Amino acid sequence: MKKDSPIGIFDSGVGGLTVVKEIINLLPREDIIYLGDTARVPYGIRSAETVTRYAIENTEFLLSKNIKALVVACNTVSAVGLDELRKRIEIPVIGVLEPGARAAVRTTRNGVVGVIGTEATISSSSYKRTIQELAPQITVYGKACPLFVPLVEEGWTEGEIVQSIVDKYMEEMRRLNIDTLVLGCTHYPLLRKAIQRSLGERVSLIDSAVETASTLRTLLLEEGLAREYNILPGRLFYVTDAPERFKRIGRKFIGDILKEVEKVSVPLKDSVVLDT
Ligand code: DGL
Repeated sequence: MKKDSPIGIFDSGVGGLTVVKEIINLLPREDIIYLGDTARVPYGIRSAETVTRYAIENTEFLLSKNIKALVVACNTVSAVGLDELRKRIEIPVIGVLEPGARAAVRTTRNGVVGVIGTEATISSSSYKRTIQELAPQITVYGKACPLFVPLVEEGWTEGEIVQSIVDKYMEEMRRLNIDTLVLGCTHYPLLRKAIQRSLGERVSLIDSAVETASTLRTLLLEEGLAREYNILPGRLFYVTDAPERFKRIGRKFIGDILKEVEKVSVPLKDSVVLDT
């Protein structure tokens, strides 16, 4: 029965576990299959075409596991490849960008919103476009913070060095009078404290992972796809390379929910033609 099928989630690597954590909080009865494309991470520095091709390949792998809905936990894929995925598959697809954008619109009081993310996410302007489609009067400023991902993966989320790097990236945002900042990358919720300290309590931080889990819950309930009973929910974790490293770093994100991690290959495609 479709209701009892798992939810498929993928990310370029370990960061999407922030989304898994929130989904488990809100939907504890669901089975989850997660794929981290650790062989090809990072996505945030690649072209839209390459990221979209990777996303299609990851999706094909998850579809082979009979998933009932797909969550694209990666902000970069959500920013550049979501429309293409939606065109290709029939099950519901949720990205992290739209839920995050909606929350920013709900939250801002002065109509000035900041978005931080990878270079690919920020240069796509997708957050800005989505926020302004919902509320054209809102001003949106974007800032790429390429050092944040390696910091988090190294386990550096607090302390003097982290704070000074965060302060440096936030300098511009502090001057721009934003009252809301979207954490537009899987890894950034782990830097939440340092970012908040840098911007002050006046600025509300939007965690796309939390918003995405709540959007998924609404969708599953509306479509009659939410699981009603499950004594022992299954959580399977696959990666395309280095499962031990994934396990070690992943535990910083979700603790010992992460047990077995299996290495797999995704079906490769030569190229993907994108509509422009
Ligand atoms: N998962 C990516 C994102 O949310 C960050 C890591 C990467 O660049 O692949 O944008």
